[in-house]
Amino acid sequence: MVSTRFATVALAGAGVANATYSIASTADIKQTAANVAWDLMQYYKGNLTGQTPGILPGPPPAGDYYWWEGGAMWGTLIDYWKLTGDDSYNKLITEAMLWQTGPGRDYMPPNVTASLGNDDQGFWGMSAMLAAENNFPNPPDDQPQWLALAQAVFHTQAMPDRHDDTCNGGLRWQIPWANNGYDYKNSIANGCFFNLGARLARYTGNQSYAEWAEKTWDWMRSVGLMDDAYNIYDGGHVQHNCTDINRAQFSYNNAVFLLGAAYMYNYTDGSDKWKQRLEGLTDATIKTFFPDKIAYELACEEHMSCTTDMLSFKGYLHRWMSTATQIAPFLADKVLPLLKTSTGAAVDTCTGEANARTCGFKWAAKAGYDGSHGAGQQMNVLAAVSSLLIGQSPPPVTNATGGTSRGDPSAGTHSDNFRGELPPVTTGDKAGASILTILILVSAVTTFGWMSTGL
Ligand SMILES: *[C@@H]1O[C@H](CO)[C@@H](O)[C@H](O)[C@H]1NC(C)=O
Ligand SMILES: *[C@@H]1O[C@H](CO)[C@@H](O)[C@H](O)[C@H]1NC(C)=O
Ligand SMILES: *[C@@H]1O[C@H](CO)[C@@H](O)[C@H](O)[C@H]1NC(C)=O
Ligand SMILES: *[C@@H]1O[C@H](CO)[C@@H](O)[C@H](O)[C@H]1NC(C)=O
Ligand SMILES: *[C@@H]1O[C@H](CO)[C@@H](O)[C@H](O)[C@H]1NC(C)=O
Ligand SMILES: *[C@@H]1O[C@H](CO)[C@@H](O)[C@H](O)[C@H]1NC(C)=O
Repeated sequence: MVSTRFATVALAGAGVANATYSIASTADIKQTAANVAWDLMQYYKGNLTGQTPGILPGPPPAGDYYWWEGGAMWGTLIDYWKLTGDDSYNKLITEAMLWQTGPGRDYMPPNVTASLGNDDQGFWGMSAMLAAENNFPNPPDDQPQWLALAQAVFHTQAMPDRHDDTCNGGLRWQIPWANNGYDYKNSIANGCFFNLGARLARYTGNQSYAEWAEKTWDWMRSVGLMDDAYNIYDGGHVQHNCTDINRAQFSYNNAVFLLGAAYMYNYTDGSDKWKQRLEGLTDATIKTFFPDKIAYELACEEHMSCTTDMLSFKGYLHRWMSTATQIAPFLADKVLPLLKTSTGAAVDTCTGEANARTCGFKWAAKAGYDGSHGAGQQMNVLAAVSSLLIGQSPPPVTNATGGTSRGDPSAGTHSDNFRGELPPVTTGDKAGASILTILILVSAVTTFGWMSTGL
């Protein structure tokens, strides 16, 4: 953290004039996206001998990245393929997405049980859903199919034992009861479930998915994780009936609900109810996360106290707001020019490291590369740049409009859902993993670093 800070100061003023990338034309956008994608893939080692397909180096302490971020990366690359037509990575995507399904074909591979959250599983599920919606090449017949995988994730999460009565409903963060964070109900876990439900409803036409989505939105509102002004807060603990709300706001929470709301709007043929919700959430998202029309990760960016996870959130924000404009076209005039401005700032950070094109994280700095690099930073810029082509790309399909992925209404219903005795909930239970705790610790270190060096 401290060395990042030094780098920022040292490089201030160096970057914009030397901007490496252009987004001025379709050809420029494709070229820029191709280079940024290439640089992203240098972080991926899963196709090398002896490595595990599908994951970025990790999970900590073995490497920087948790399991979910691999799933998020394949989604980013599926969008990249759809938007630019470049299929260079399609074989890697397929291999990765199939390797990680786990024996239940439900994205709960035993290797990751110790940190398996509903959100982690959800990110892989959303990437499978995206593959189905874009007619990404279907796996061989004897392999699990994209739609069935998305259904499996959703169905395991809809099981009664994942929706216990604490806090009047909702999903917990972690899946296995022995994990740290099992006592926390949070927005991202419920957001992934909501998002998948809305998309499965539109894709399959099955109303039960929409009912779950509706119910999840209502739960978020009733418990106060989404307030009247459409602010979305991180989560709360079951031993406090979810009233101890951690008020940190993260852009991926807004993005995951925004896209889901757009699907519900489309699924309900443009209903007033969902139009109002979608508009409200879009306005709140712009207000909170796009000061000066440039994506900004409010909770951590000022002091660069972002965790590796948080360093990838801007990418989901850009991708999902873009896709929302395809199925809720009334948003396009408000959202697309904003995303274009933000993307211009994003590519201006890509002047770093030895190859002079590594992308940074602080897009609004107007100072070029900020010294921070990683898969998240590359993924953010790749997402922003390729999404500039959203207007030239067909909207997501459904089973009725050309979708070819095969589903399975019973996928995931026989999964090992970590059933068994629930432990008694104790107030002394420390949700060791609360994001805010990590945040405060990191900021304290950062602040101390500044103080002791006089910066
Ligand atoms: C792994 O994938 C990268 C693309 O990201 C490719 O350049 C490289 O050749 C691949 N390596 C192997 C061993 O397949
Ligand atoms: C689980 O871990 C083992 C050992 O690292 C690895 O060989 C295997 O491919 C992993 N399985 C999955 C699904 O990641
Ligand atoms: C609709 O979805 C529900 C819940 O996932 C499932 O139980 C039901 O069988 C589905 N109906 C059809 C017609 O596929
Ligand atoms: C828990 O909170 C909900 C509102 O989210 C409320 O309806 C319920 O009565 C509360 N339960 C207890 C035991 O306080
Ligand atoms: C629903 O999405 C389609 C694109 O698939 C779009 O043409 C249509 O206008 C959308 N419906 C509404 C009500 O916006
Ligand atoms: C999906 O569409 C195909 C034909 O396009 C049809 O045979 C199938 O029954 C549909 N599936 C569902 C679940 O509606």
